[in-house]
Amino acid sequence: MHIAKMSGAVGAEITQVDLTDLGDTGFNDLRDALFAHGMIVIRNQSITPEAHIALVERFGAIDINRFFTPVATHPMIAEVRTSPDMTRVIGGTWHTDHSYDPAPAMCSILAARELPAFGGDTLFASMTAAYNSLSEGLKTTLRGLRAVHSDGSFAQSNVGIEADAKAFKEPVYHPCIIAHPTTGAPCLYVNGDFTTQFEGWSEEESAPLLRYLYAHATRPEYSCRLRWEEGSVAIWDNRLVQHFACADYAGHGRLMHRITVEGSVLSAYTG
Ligand code: SIN
Repeated sequence: MHIAKMSGAVGAEITQVDLTDLGDTGFNDLRDALFAHGMIVIRNQSITPEAHIALVERFGAIDINRFFTPVATHPMIAEVRTSPDMTRVIGGTWHTDHSYDPAPAMCSILAARELPAFGGDTLFASMTAAYNSLSEGLKTTLRGLRAVHSDGSFAQSNVGIEADAKAFKEPVYHPCIIAHPTTGAPCLYVNGDFTTQFEGWSEEESAPLLRYLYAHATRPEYSCRLRWEEGSVAIWDNRLVQHFACADYAGHGRLMHRITVEGSVLSAYTG
Protein backbone atom coordinates (compact mmCIF):
# COMPACT_ATOMS: atom_id res chain seq x y z
CA MET A 1 0.00 0.00 0.00
CA HIS A 2 1.40 3.39 -0.98
CA ILE A 3 0.30 6.36 1.14
CA ALA A 4 0.85 9.98 0.03
CA LYS A 5 -0.21 12.95 2.15
CA MET A 6 -2.58 15.38 0.40
CA SER A 7 -1.80 18.42 2.56
CA GLY A 8 0.05 19.34 5.75
CA ALA A 9 -2.89 18.77 8.10
CA VAL A 10 -5.33 16.26 6.64
CA GLY A 11 -5.92 13.64 3.96
CA ALA A 12 -3.89 10.90 2.30
CA GLU A 13 -4.18 9.21 -1.07
CA ILE A 14 -3.71 5.46 -1.05
CA THR A 15 -2.77 3.40 -4.11
CA GLN A 16 -1.49 -0.12 -4.73
CA VAL A 17 -4.22 -1.77 -2.67
CA ASP A 18 -7.38 -3.75 -3.48
CA LEU A 19 -10.14 -3.08 -0.94
CA THR A 20 -11.82 -6.37 -1.80
CA ASP A 21 -8.69 -8.35 -0.97
CA LEU A 22 -7.32 -6.93 2.29
CA GLY A 23 -5.80 -9.31 4.82
CA ASP A 24 -5.76 -8.42 8.50
CA THR A 25 -2.45 -6.57 8.17
CA GLY A 26 -3.70 -4.63 5.17
CA PHE A 27 -6.88 -3.68 6.98
CA ASN A 28 -4.98 -2.59 10.11
CA ASP A 29 -2.66 -0.45 7.96
CA LEU A 30 -5.71 1.15 6.32
CA ARG A 31 -7.34 1.92 9.69
CA ASP A 32 -4.06 3.31 11.07
CA ALA A 33 -3.81 5.58 7.99
CA LEU A 34 -7.36 6.78 8.65
CA PHE A 35 -6.53 7.71 12.25
CA ALA A 36 -3.25 9.35 11.17
CA HIS A 37 -4.69 11.44 8.32
CA GLY A 38 -8.40 11.89 9.19
CA MET A 39 -9.46 11.12 5.61
CA ILE A 40 -8.05 8.61 3.15
CA VAL A 41 -8.99 8.16 -0.50
CA ILE A 42 -8.29 4.84 -2.12
CA ARG A 43 -7.98 5.09 -5.90
CA ASN A 44 -8.77 2.68 -8.73
CA GLN A 45 -11.20 0.40 -6.92
CA SER A 46 -13.88 -1.74 -8.46
CA ILE A 47 -16.24 -2.07 -5.54
CA THR A 48 -19.76 -3.53 -5.77
CA PRO A 49 -22.41 -2.52 -3.20
CA GLU A 50 -21.84 -5.91 -1.50
CA ALA A 51 -18.08 -5.28 -1.30
CA HIS A 52 -18.76 -1.77 0.01
CA ILE A 53 -20.89 -3.22 2.83
CA ALA A 54 -18.29 -5.91 3.56
CA LEU A 55 -15.53 -3.29 3.83
CA VAL A 56 -17.60 -1.12 6.17
CA GLU A 57 -18.38 -4.07 8.42
CA ARG A 58 -14.66 -4.56 9.08
CA PHE A 59 -14.68 -1.13 10.76
CA GLY A 60 -17.81 -1.86 12.84
CA ALA A 61 -21.59 -2.16 12.73
CA ILE A 62 -23.43 -0.09 10.14
CA ASP A 63 -25.24 3.02 11.41
CA ILE A 64 -28.06 3.56 8.91
CA ASN A 65 -28.76 7.26 8.38
CA ARG A 66 -32.39 7.97 9.26
CA PHE A 67 -32.71 10.98 6.91
CA PHE A 68 -31.07 9.90 3.64
CA THR A 69 -32.81 8.00 0.85
CA PRO A 70 -31.59 4.40 0.91
CA VAL A 71 -30.35 2.66 -2.23
CA ALA A 72 -33.39 0.61 -3.31
CA THR A 73 -31.51 -2.66 -3.66
CA HIS A 74 -29.25 -2.16 -0.61
CA PRO A 75 -31.06 -0.25 2.17
CA MET A 76 -27.90 -0.15 4.32
CA ILE A 77 -26.39 2.23 1.78
CA ALA A 78 -27.46 5.90 1.70
CA GLU A 79 -27.79 7.58 -1.67
CA VAL A 80 -26.08 10.96 -2.06
CA ARG A 81 -27.59 12.06 -5.33
CA THR A 82 -27.56 15.39 -7.18
CA SER A 83 -29.73 15.60 -10.28
CA PRO A 84 -28.74 17.99 -13.09
CA ASP A 85 -31.48 20.51 -12.21
CA MET A 86 -30.24 20.98 -8.61
CA THR A 87 -28.04 23.90 -7.58
CA ARG A 88 -27.70 22.77 -3.95
CA VAL A 89 -26.30 19.42 -2.85
CA ILE A 90 -26.43 17.14 0.17
CA GLY A 91 -23.57 18.08 2.48
CA GLY A 92 -22.90 21.41 0.77
CA THR A 93 -21.89 23.16 4.01
CA TRP A 94 -19.12 22.29 6.49
CA HIS A 95 -20.41 19.61 8.84
CA THR A 96 -19.81 16.45 10.83
CA ASP A 97 -21.96 13.43 9.96
CA HIS A 98 -24.39 12.34 12.69
CA SER A 99 -23.17 14.73 15.43
CA TYR A 100 -26.86 14.98 16.44
CA ASP A 101 -26.73 11.40 17.77
CA PRO A 102 -25.80 10.46 21.36
CA ALA A 103 -23.06 8.14 19.98
CA PRO A 104 -22.14 9.79 16.64
CA ALA A 105 -20.98 7.72 13.67
CA MET A 106 -17.30 6.86 13.77
CA CYS A 107 -16.55 7.04 10.07
CA SER A 108 -18.24 7.39 6.69
CA ILE A 109 -17.24 5.48 3.57
CA LEU A 110 -18.21 7.11 0.28
CA ALA A 111 -17.94 5.36 -3.09
CA ALA A 112 -18.14 7.33 -6.33
CA ARG A 113 -20.84 5.94 -8.69
CA GLU A 114 -21.51 8.72 -11.24
CA LEU A 115 -19.33 11.81 -11.39
CA PRO A 116 -19.93 15.16 -13.11
CA ALA A 117 -17.68 16.17 -16.00
CA PHE A 118 -16.07 18.78 -13.71
CA GLY A 119 -16.29 19.86 -10.07
CA GLY A 120 -18.08 17.96 -7.30
CA ASP A 121 -14.96 17.80 -5.11
CA THR A 122 -15.21 17.21 -1.36
CA LEU A 123 -13.18 19.30 1.09
CA PHE A 124 -12.00 18.08 4.49
CA ALA A 125 -10.64 20.02 7.48
CA SER A 126 -8.68 18.67 10.44
CA MET A 127 -10.33 19.33 13.78
CA THR A 128 -7.09 18.46 15.58
CA ALA A 129 -5.20 21.14 13.63
CA ALA A 130 -8.08 23.52 14.38
CA TYR A 131 -7.84 22.84 18.12
CA ASN A 132 -4.04 22.90 18.28
CA SER A 133 -3.87 26.33 16.63
CA LEU A 134 -6.22 28.05 19.11
CA SER A 135 -4.79 30.26 21.86
CA GLU A 136 -4.20 28.63 25.25
CA GLY A 137 -6.95 30.86 26.68
CA LEU A 138 -9.62 29.73 24.23
CA LYS A 139 -8.49 26.09 24.48
CA THR A 140 -9.03 26.24 28.25
CA THR A 141 -12.46 27.88 27.88
CA LEU A 142 -13.62 25.35 25.28
CA ARG A 143 -12.35 22.38 27.29
CA GLY A 144 -14.84 23.40 29.98
CA LEU A 145 -17.85 23.61 27.64
CA ARG A 146 -20.31 21.22 26.06
CA ALA A 147 -22.41 22.09 23.00
CA VAL A 148 -25.93 21.20 21.96
CA HIS A 149 -26.33 19.28 18.66
CA SER A 150 -29.69 18.87 16.90
CA ASP A 151 -30.96 17.16 13.75
CA GLY A 152 -33.44 20.07 13.25
CA SER A 153 -31.65 21.44 10.17
CA PHE A 154 -32.98 18.47 8.15
CA ALA A 155 -36.48 19.97 8.53
CA GLN A 156 -35.45 22.84 6.21
CA SER A 157 -33.51 20.67 3.81
CA ASN A 158 -34.14 21.35 0.12
CA VAL A 159 -31.69 18.85 -1.30
CA GLY A 160 -33.95 15.84 -1.72
CA ILE A 161 -34.02 14.74 1.93
CA GLU A 162 -37.62 14.21 2.97
CA ALA A 163 -37.62 13.43 6.65
CA ASP A 164 -40.43 11.64 8.38
CA ALA A 165 -41.44 13.57 11.54
CA LYS A 166 -40.66 10.43 13.57
CA ALA A 167 -37.00 10.60 12.49
CA PHE A 168 -36.34 13.73 14.57
CA LYS A 169 -34.91 13.14 18.05
CA GLU A 170 -34.14 15.26 21.11
CA PRO A 171 -30.96 17.39 20.97
CA VAL A 172 -27.81 15.88 22.49
CA TYR A 173 -24.76 17.30 24.32
CA HIS A 174 -21.13 16.66 23.40
CA PRO A 175 -17.92 18.18 24.80
CA CYS A 176 -16.64 21.02 22.60
CA ILE A 177 -13.19 19.43 22.67
CA ILE A 178 -13.31 15.66 22.46
CA ALA A 179 -10.54 13.11 22.88
CA HIS A 180 -10.37 10.84 19.85
CA PRO A 181 -11.68 7.49 21.16
CA THR A 182 -8.72 5.49 19.75
CA THR A 183 -5.73 7.84 19.70
CA GLY A 184 -6.73 10.36 22.40
CA ALA A 185 -5.95 13.27 20.03
CA PRO A 186 -7.85 16.49 20.83
CA CYS A 187 -10.52 17.48 18.28
CA LEU A 188 -12.72 20.57 18.08
CA TYR A 189 -16.26 19.17 17.95
CA VAL A 190 -18.77 21.87 16.91
CA ASN A 191 -20.18 22.24 13.39
CA GLY A 192 -22.38 24.67 11.50
CA ASP A 193 -25.08 22.21 10.41
CA PHE A 194 -25.96 20.63 13.73
CA THR A 195 -24.53 22.62 16.68
CA THR A 196 -27.10 25.11 17.99
CA GLN A 197 -25.45 26.62 21.09
CA PHE A 198 -23.19 26.03 24.08
CA GLU A 199 -24.74 24.30 27.06
CA GLY A 200 -26.11 26.93 29.45
CA TRP A 201 -25.73 29.73 26.83
CA SER A 202 -28.50 31.14 24.62
CA GLU A 203 -28.29 30.76 20.84
CA GLU A 204 -27.62 34.51 20.54
CA GLU A 205 -24.79 34.37 23.10
CA SER A 206 -23.28 31.33 21.43
CA ALA A 207 -23.45 32.56 17.82
CA PRO A 208 -20.39 34.90 17.74
CA LEU A 209 -18.00 32.34 19.24
CA LEU A 210 -19.41 29.49 17.13
CA ARG A 211 -19.06 31.64 14.00
CA TYR A 212 -15.43 32.34 14.89
CA LEU A 213 -14.75 28.63 15.46
CA TYR A 214 -16.34 27.56 12.15
CA ALA A 215 -14.25 30.10 10.20
CA HIS A 216 -11.08 29.16 12.10
CA ALA A 217 -11.60 25.40 11.76
CA THR A 218 -11.99 25.44 7.99
CA ARG A 219 -9.00 27.64 7.13
CA PRO A 220 -7.18 26.44 3.98
CA GLU A 221 -4.09 25.43 5.96
CA TYR A 222 -6.08 22.90 8.01
CA SER A 223 -7.89 21.44 4.99
CA CYS A 224 -7.47 19.47 1.78
CA ARG A 225 -9.54 19.05 -1.37
CA LEU A 226 -10.45 15.66 -2.75
CA ARG A 227 -10.85 15.46 -6.53
CA TRP A 228 -12.97 12.39 -7.22
CA GLU A 229 -12.08 9.95 -9.98
CA GLU A 230 -13.92 6.91 -11.26
CA GLY A 231 -13.10 4.11 -8.81
CA SER A 232 -12.37 6.40 -5.83
CA VAL A 233 -13.50 5.37 -2.35
CA ALA A 234 -13.03 7.86 0.51
CA ILE A 235 -13.13 7.09 4.22
CA TRP A 236 -13.23 9.85 6.82
CA ASP A 237 -13.22 9.80 10.60
CA ASN A 238 -16.07 12.03 11.78
CA ARG A 239 -14.30 12.80 15.05
CA LEU A 240 -11.13 14.02 13.29
CA VAL A 241 -12.53 16.00 10.36
CA GLN A 242 -15.40 18.08 9.05
CA HIS A 243 -16.27 17.94 5.35
CA PHE A 244 -17.95 20.02 2.63
CA ALA A 245 -19.38 18.84 -0.70
CA CYS A 246 -18.76 21.48 -3.36
CA ALA A 247 -21.87 22.42 -5.38
CA ASP A 248 -20.13 23.69 -8.51
CA TYR A 249 -21.49 21.40 -11.24
CA ALA A 250 -25.01 22.70 -11.97
CA GLY A 251 -26.48 21.03 -15.02
CA HIS A 252 -24.68 17.76 -14.29
CA GLY A 253 -25.60 14.80 -12.09
CA ARG A 254 -23.56 13.11 -9.37
CA LEU A 255 -24.25 9.89 -7.47
CA MET A 256 -22.31 8.61 -4.49
CA HIS A 257 -23.03 5.70 -2.12
CA ARG A 258 -22.40 6.40 1.56
CA ILE A 259 -22.31 4.05 4.53
CA THR A 260 -21.60 5.18 8.08
CA VAL A 261 -20.16 3.09 10.90
CA GLU A 262 -21.45 3.16 14.46
CA GLY A 263 -19.39 5.20 16.93
CA SER A 264 -19.30 5.65 20.67
CA VAL A 265 -20.27 8.28 23.23
CA LEU A 266 -17.63 11.03 23.11
CA SER A 267 -15.44 12.01 26.07
CA ALA A 268 -13.94 15.39 26.81
CA TYR A 269 -10.26 16.02 26.12
CA THR A 270 -8.74 17.10 29.38
CA GLY A 271 -5.30 18.17 28.19
C1 SIN B 1 -21.65 14.01 2.69
O1 SIN B 1 -21.78 15.08 3.26
O2 SIN B 1 -21.57 12.96 3.30
C2 SIN B 1 -21.54 13.99 1.17
C3 SIN B 1 -20.16 14.27 0.72
C4 SIN B 1 -20.07 14.32 -0.77
O3 SIN B 1 -21.08 14.06 -1.45
O4 SIN B 1 -19.02 14.63 -1.28
